[in-house]
Amino acid sequence: MKKPIISPSILSCNFLEIGNAIKMLNESQADWVHCDVMDGVFVPNITFGMPILQAIKKISEKPLDVHLMIVQPERYLEDFQKAGADILTVHYEASTHLHRTLQSIKQLGMKTGIAINPHTSVHLLYDVLENTDLVCIMSVNPGFGGQSFIEKTYKKVETLKKFIEDNQLHTLIEIDGGVNSNNAPKLLDYGADVLVAGNFIFNSQNPQKVIEDLKKV
Ligand code: DX5
Ligand code: ZN
Repeated sequence: MKKPIISPSILSCNFLEIGNAIKMLNESQADWVHCDVMDGVFVPNITFGMPILQAIKKISEKPLDVHLMIVQPERYLEDFQKAGADILTVHYEASTHLHRTLQSIKQLGMKTGIAINPHTSVHLLYDVLENTDLVCIMSVNPGFGGQSFIEKTYKKVETLKKFIEDNQLHTLIEIDGGVNSNNAPKLLDYGADVLVAGNFIFNSQNPQKVIEDLKKV
């Protein structure tokens, strides 16, 4: 089986030591750095924005996988591009003109991503998948790290994977929330390509080893 792309979520790192966390990821087998931007409106939590991303970008040797949990993300696409996003993911539930938003992200030279909340069906994405490099299936309700994985996610991955393959698309499937070594093998079997993990990596004794093990799943 193809090795998964591992995108550690720095939401769970020690923010006083964020530079060291990025350096650790540089030296690890992590493929991307998952950055969770929350606005306190779309989700009941506030994290960080462009200045922090800019700082991370200066030292990160891995692409920044930026997950926007903000309302009307179309207002800020250029700002996030300037801050260093390589993949820019917006929520289906937050963007009224999603097709246009995806086009703008592409025009700005970034990879396009759509995230869906646990209540949103993958079927709703079929008309825009040609314009989408990545679908982020949320396996928890967005807003916080360290929550329990929602089992229904497997079925969503399977359904979406079938559609992608039947239509010969290249869209990657990313799973975000409660990912660990127990659910990772099954997620990959069902067709996931990218695993995001926050708590499981950063609250372990040896984050680099956990990343290495996830890569080998
Ligand atoms: C949740 C965020 C996730 C979060 C995942 O809203 O989008 O990226 O950091 O953290 P864990 O792996 O701890 O569930
Ligand atoms: Zn995320």
